[in-house]
Amino acid sequence: MGFIPDEIIEAVRLRSNIVEVVSRYVQLKKTGKNYTGLCPFHRERTPSFTVTQEKQIFHCFGCGAGGDVFRFLMLKNNMNFYEAVSFLAEQAGIAIPSDTSPVQKEMDRERESLRRINSLAKDFFHHTLQHHEAAAVARRYLAGRDITPEVLELFQVGFALPGWDNLLAYFGRQGIRPEEVARAGLVIKKAGGGYYDRFRNRIIFPIWDAAGRVTGFGGRVLDSSQPKYMNTPETPFFSKGRNLYGLHLARGAVRDKGSIIVMEGYMDVITAHLHGITNAVASLGTALTAEQGRLLLNYSKNVVVAYDADAAGVAATIRSLDLLQELGCQVSVLSIPDGKDPDDYLRKYGCQSWERLMDTAPSLIEYKLRQATSTLKVKTVSDKLNIINQVFPNIYGLKSEVEKEEGLKAVARELNLSWETVAGEYKRYKTNKGKKWTFSDNIVKTKHTIVGNKERMDARSKAETVVLQLVLDNPELGKIILDKMGQAPFKNKTYLKIFERCLEVAKRPLYQPVEIIKDLEDEERSLLSYLLAQEIPGDDPVQIMNIYLESINRCYRQERRKNLLQEISKHENMENGLPDHDLLREYMLLQRIEDAEIAGDQGKIDQLLEEYRQFESNIWKYPREGIDG
Ligand code: UTP
Ligand code: MN
Repeated sequence: MGFIPDEIIEAVRLRSNIVEVVSRYVQLKKTGKNYTGLCPFHRERTPSFTVTQEKQIFHCFGCGAGGDVFRFLMLKNNMNFYEAVSFLAEQAGIAIPSDTSPVQKEMDRERESLRRINSLAKDFFHHTLQHHEAAAVARRYLAGRDITPEVLELFQVGFALPGWDNLLAYFGRQGIRPEEVARAGLVIKKAGGGYYDRFRNRIIFPIWDAAGRVTGFGGRVLDSSQPKYMNTPETPFFSKGRNLYGLHLARGAVRDKGSIIVMEGYMDVITAHLHGITNAVASLGTALTAEQGRLLLNYSKNVVVAYDADAAGVAATIRSLDLLQELGCQVSVLSIPDGKDPDDYLRKYGCQSWERLMDTAPSLIEYKLRQATSTLKVKTVSDKLNIINQVFPNIYGLKSEVEKEEGLKAVARELNLSWETVAGEYKRYKTNKGKKWTFSDNIVKTKHTIVGNKERMDARSKAETVVLQLVLDNPELGKIILDKMGQAPFKNKTYLKIFERCLEVAKRPLYQPVEIIKDLEDEERSLLSYLLAQEIPGDDPVQIMNIYLESINRCYRQERRKNLLQEISKHENMENGLPDHDLLREYMLLQRIEDAEIAGDQGKIDQLLEEYRQFESNIWKYPREGIDG
C-alpha cells in the first residue's frame, strides 16, 4: 500500500463531504443535526445509520460500523485506505505527491502504462473493424446479428485481424516495447523468443470499469470454433469477476429506472441496448461473484437476473441469487422461454415481449420453488419439506414482514400446502436455524461488543462515556479531567486511548475529532464513531463534566472501599494480628464520606474529600488503579 503524507490525507478529508459521498450510496434524510438512512452494511428496516456533517463521521447504531469518509469507501467499495484517499483526492483535485513508496510508485506506473496500452489497442481494433478491407467478414457477421453502427460505436466494438503480429507491429510503430504489451495480456511470449498476438481473427469487445476506462478485452470467433470467447488474462489490474460489462454505459439508466438487469454475455448487453434496454450489464460468465454483487449494490438494490435458461446455468444461477439476497439486494428472476438467452429472445420477439417477461418476473422465492417443483417429482410430504427448507433461508432473509408473508404464501401455493402448515414449519425453522443469514463480517463482531457493552454498562462506564463525549466535543475540558482524575482517568482502555489521542489531535490549529480515527483498531474506531454520532446532553459542558467526574470518583471510592474491606478481613483472619493502620484509616475515611453523601451534607462531603485527597497524596502505598487489567 502506498504512503500518503498526513497533510494530504487531512486536505482530502477537508475537501470531501461525507454526507455528499455517503448520499451516492445511501438515501439519507436529515433528522436534527444528523442524517440518517438504512445501513448499507447490514439488513435493517428502520434507519440506524447516522452521518454527521459537523463531525464528518458515520456510525450505525445497529451493527456498529463506523468511521470517517475513507472508512466508508473502504467498506462500501472494497477499497484499501490508499485507494479510498486517492479516489477522493482525484475528485477534490488534490494531487497525491509522487514521493510515495517505491512499490506504490511502480504499481501506479504499471497501471498507467496498462491503461494507455489498452486504450491504444481499443482504438486500433475499432478502427480495423470500421475500415480494414479484411474486416469485411466481421462487419457482415455483426450486421447478421442486427447490430447497428451506432451500437458498435457505443460499445467500441473492434476486430482483430487474422495473422500473428498485427497488434504487435502496431505497438512497435508506437514505440511501445512488447514486454509491456505482454503485461496487458495482448501479446504472448513465445518459448523460443519473440511475441505473438493473443487475439486473432476475433470480434473484440472492450471491457470497461465503472469509471469508463478500458481494463481488458473479450474476443469472439466468427464461426463455431472453440473457445468461443477469449478474454484478457487475470492480472492484479484486471479480473473478469470484479467487473460488470456495460456498467459505465448503464449507470444513468439504472438510476432512472431504479433497477439493474444482470445478463450473462457481451452480446446480451449489446442487443439489450439496441432495444432501448439500457440498464443492463453482464457478469461475463455464469456465476456472479460477491465483488460483482457489491458493485451492483452501489447502483441499485433492485436486481433482475436474466441469465440463460440452459440447465447447466440453473444451479449457478441459484447460487448467485442467494449471494445477491445475502448482500441485501431485492432479486427477481427473468426466465427466458425455450432455452434462449436475452440476445436471441430480443431479436426474435422484440422489447415489448421482453417487458411482459419483466412484469411477470418471479421473485427469488417463487423462482426457486418453480425450479424445484419442475425438476423433482414432488409426491410425498417429505419431498415438500425438503423444498421448503431450500427456500426458508431466503424468506428469512427478506426485509419486511409483508414480503415474508408473500413468500410464505407462495410456498403454500406452489407446493399445494395449507397456510397453517407452512407458517408452522416456518416458525419451527426460525427457532432452529434462523442464524444462517446473519452476516459473517467483522462488522458484526463489533456490533456485539458495542451493543453488549452498552446494555451491561454500569454507572461508572456510563459516566466515563459522557465525560469522553464531552472532551471529544471540547478538548479544552481535558485539563479539568487530568487535574481531577490523574493521568489515567478512564478505567476502560479504549476510552483512555481515545482520550489521549484526542488531546494530541487538539494541539493542531484546527481541531477535528475525526482525525483521531487514524490508526485505531476496528472496535476502537467503531466506539469513536458511536461517541461522536451521539448528541451531547445539556448545554453547560463544564457543569455536566463535573457532575460525571464526581460520579466516576464516587464509583471509584465505592470499589475501593469494597476492596479495602476484603483486605482488612483477610488480615483479621490471619494469626499475626492487626491489619495495616493505613488500610483502616482509609477505610474509615471512605465510610465517613459515604455517610455524608447519604445524608446529603455538602459541607461535610467537601471537607472529607479534601481530607481524602491529602491522605491519598501522602500515602501512595496503594496506588489508585486506573486501568482494567
Ligand atoms: P455464452 O456461451 O452464453 O455466450 O456465454 P453468448 O454471450 O450468448 O455469446 P453469443 O451470443 O454466442 O455470441 C456467456 C458469456 O460467458 C463468457 C463470455 O463473457 C460470454 O459472453 N464466455 C463464454 C467466455 O468467457 N468464454 C467462453 O468460451 C464462453
Ligand atoms: Mn448468445
